[in-house]
Amino acid sequence: MTKITIEGNNLLSGEIKISGAKNSAVALIPAAVLSKEKSIIYNVPEIKDIEYLIKIMELLDCKIEHKNNTLYIDSSNLKNKPIPEDLSVQMRASYYFMGALLAKFGKVEMSFPGGCNIGARPIDIHIKGFEQLGAKVEIIKNRYIITADKLIGKKIYFDFPSVGATINIMLAAIGAEGTTIIENAAMEPEIVNVASFLINMGVKIRGAGTKRIEIEGTRKLNNGICEVFSDRIECGTYIIIGALLGKNLTIKGVIKEHLEAFLMKLKEVGVKYSINGDTLIISKTENLKPTYIKTLVFPGFPTDLQQPFTTLLTQATGMSIIEETIYENRFKNTYDLNRMGAITNIISLNKLEIKGPRKLHGTNVIATDLRGGASLLIAALIAEGTTEIENSDVILRGYSDVIKKLENVGAKIKITE
Ligand code: EPU
Repeated sequence: MTKITIEGNNLLSGEIKISGAKNSAVALIPAAVLSKEKSIIYNVPEIKDIEYLIKIMELLDCKIEHKNNTLYIDSSNLKNKPIPEDLSVQMRASYYFMGALLAKFGKVEMSFPGGCNIGARPIDIHIKGFEQLGAKVEIIKNRYIITADKLIGKKIYFDFPSVGATINIMLAAIGAEGTTIIENAAMEPEIVNVASFLINMGVKIRGAGTKRIEIEGTRKLNNGICEVFSDRIECGTYIIIGALLGKNLTIKGVIKEHLEAFLMKLKEVGVKYSINGDTLIISKTENLKPTYIKTLVFPGFPTDLQQPFTTLLTQATGMSIIEETIYENRFKNTYDLNRMGAITNIISLNKLEIKGPRKLHGTNVIATDLRGGASLLIAALIAEGTTEIENSDVILRGYSDVIKKLENVGAKIKITE
């Protein structure tokens, strides 16, 4: 288990370059099994989930070369093998092998996916989608066995615009005869990133990024090439850090269209920044104002930035409210935030109130999940004294090179095993 130690309250200046998006990359890699031979994926982040996905790809006899944030994937000798629990449980995204292998072989066997413990996180919408395409789904001793003699394109209506289900059904639909239509699809940028990769391989997909996606099944897939979009959640996290501690902190690789709801909220609380192309410059904001935030699916305020934003709001004068509508268990960070001096109260199952401004002080804390860990990391950066964040592996799951990036701009931060 790793521990991050931070001596807080130092202004940060210099440049931070945003890495490729975790939630795109983790879908693009399984999607590469559909390619006939070779794929290239650029701008891959250096995070734990990628290491585990590479292990799964190698288990399936893909040849992978990983250098300078680029993955060269040769899936010409791909074999369909069961994915064991010690790999599938390491991350949520292992479920993308369901859609990809189902499309390719008509059969998948894998253990339950893992991921952060932030709610129940069922995958019923994925399963229902596979079944509607003609697959049979059995669960035997914690293993999914999904089989289909033939997949047939259908119109599928999602009860909720799930990101994972949208991508998974998009992948499975490639192996189906005819056209699949997903209604009430998720519109997150990650879906557009994956669709572009598939289109580049020769798949006909229309409407990715809208509520209605059409996919034409095909067996003729070429080699694929794509670049991972820059990570909007990592970007938002560093913007928050800049608003609290920046001294002309420069953030490069910003796609502002992916962050509109978040940037609107920053404006509402009084944060100022300048943006030119993909470069944003930000300095510490005095006199932050409170706000109300409701997390929503894209293009609404992203749930993944809710916990980092909570730390920002501990510094605003007055009472803020956060309403979390995507996950039922995403306030676990507030226990340790309060131990550091914040005043937050969970006022109902999905509502949090935050009273500020509060001076935070360093202490020993535990990262319970990825974004909760990021929230504590930001708290540690602004706190007086030293904070030790135990279980910080969960932070490394989503923030590429986080120690180096923060050290380079002047943070006093180290990581130990
Ligand atoms: N849901 C269901 N049934 C399903 C699928 C989802 O009830 O079959 C529910 C979930 O329980 C949750 C909500 O729908 O309450 C949203 O789930 P969604 O499927 O959209 O999320 P996901 O695909 O599991 C991805 C990201 C998450 C991010 C969400 C929402 C990956 C690997 N994970 O999860 O990222 O929060 O979309 O944007 O892409 C993170 O990066 O910290 C993270 C948790």
